[in-house]
Amino acid sequence: METLILSSDNEDIRTAANIIKAGGIVAMPTETVYGLAADALNGKAVRKIFQAKGRPMDNPLIVHISDISQIHLLVREFPRKAEILADRFWPGPLTMILPKSDKIPDEVSAGLDTVAVRFPSHPSALRLISLSSPLAAPSANLSGSPSPTTVRHVCDDMTGRIDAIIDGGDCDVGVESTVITLAQEPPRLLRPGGITVEQLREAIGEVIIDSAVTEPLAEGQKAASPGMKYKHYAPDAEVILLDGDAEKFIEYINTNGKDGDAVLCYNEDLGRLRLPCIPIGSEKDTETQAHRLFSALRETDRLGIKQVYAHCPSKEGVGLAVYNRMIRAAGFKIIRL
Ligand code: TXA
Ligand code: MG
Repeated sequence: METLILSSDNEDIRTAANIIKAGGIVAMPTETVYGLAADALNGKAVRKIFQAKGRPMDNPLIVHISDISQIHLLVREFPRKAEILADRFWPGPLTMILPKSDKIPDEVSAGLDTVAVRFPSHPSALRLISLSSPLAAPSANLSGSPSPTTVRHVCDDMTGRIDAIIDGGDCDVGVESTVITLAQEPPRLLRPGGITVEQLREAIGEVIIDSAVTEPLAEGQKAASPGMKYKHYAPDAEVILLDGDAEKFIEYINTNGKDGDAVLCYNEDLGRLRLPCIPIGSEKDTETQAHRLFSALRETDRLGIKQVYAHCPSKEGVGLAVYNRMIRAAGFKIIRL
């Protein structure tokens, strides 16, 4: 299949909207990561997303809206707490799971009784939705690999597999949206992201952090969010997380690092490590770390790295999102120094 590369100008977004209306699939920029979009109400079109990504059919998709009035088409209930979160954080990097309406095709919700909804803030995504329909869109990567945060990443994974790619430059946040379920009480955080759990609690009070955010699923444990049971964000290189202060981190790597290894480091480590370094930001700057993480993981593949060492991130603020992605990339392996 030939994949059309489109710009973000009005004419090109209109072309993309026509592709969507005809049942095609298009990669679009959002403020978090690039998404791979189809008309959320067209089950047949949505199926093509799973094929293009190689995504298991039991992993449900997020539906993206461009106007709060569209919510009532998608959900049966919109509880007060959801209203508060929508007022506070939409448009933006927050996904809410709610009881689904009967308009949602089974392909989108993977047979669950709920649907994930997000109102993104990226102008090109909003324009595309308003010219077509609510859009089902997972991240636009091949299943298992790091989510794409630049158009180059999308082209690497999706050229020849989808109808079109809209070039919207680099994504702002760099990790996927925060996912919270309001289909149960108290609400539960299923995936940390750019909206922090501290911000959610400030808005609606108690929010439980699902154990799968930081821990592997126990044998036989059912995933609250099906996506959490799959291998994720993994580059070809083996990722090894080191938990300890900067001095121990540097000493460990300088003693144990081998040719062909590399380090995802903080800016403060530069010049002190004897392996190739890919800096992801300052130690305290978790937002920059989130912004650069997936690019850095993809960079290790481009360089043909075999083992990559990284700091075990702090779990505060946006750090929890970085931790959640890193620990999955590392297959939950941490070396305590
Ligand atoms: O920032 C984002 O959220 C990006 C952009 C494109 O919007 N999208 C994204 O989609 O990250 P995806 O499919 O890669 O991740 C969606 C996650 C998966 O872990 C999925 O299992 C979970 O949300 N999810 C979707 N619907 C759900 C539901 N009804 N119940 C529980 N988890 C759900
Ligand atoms: Mg994804």
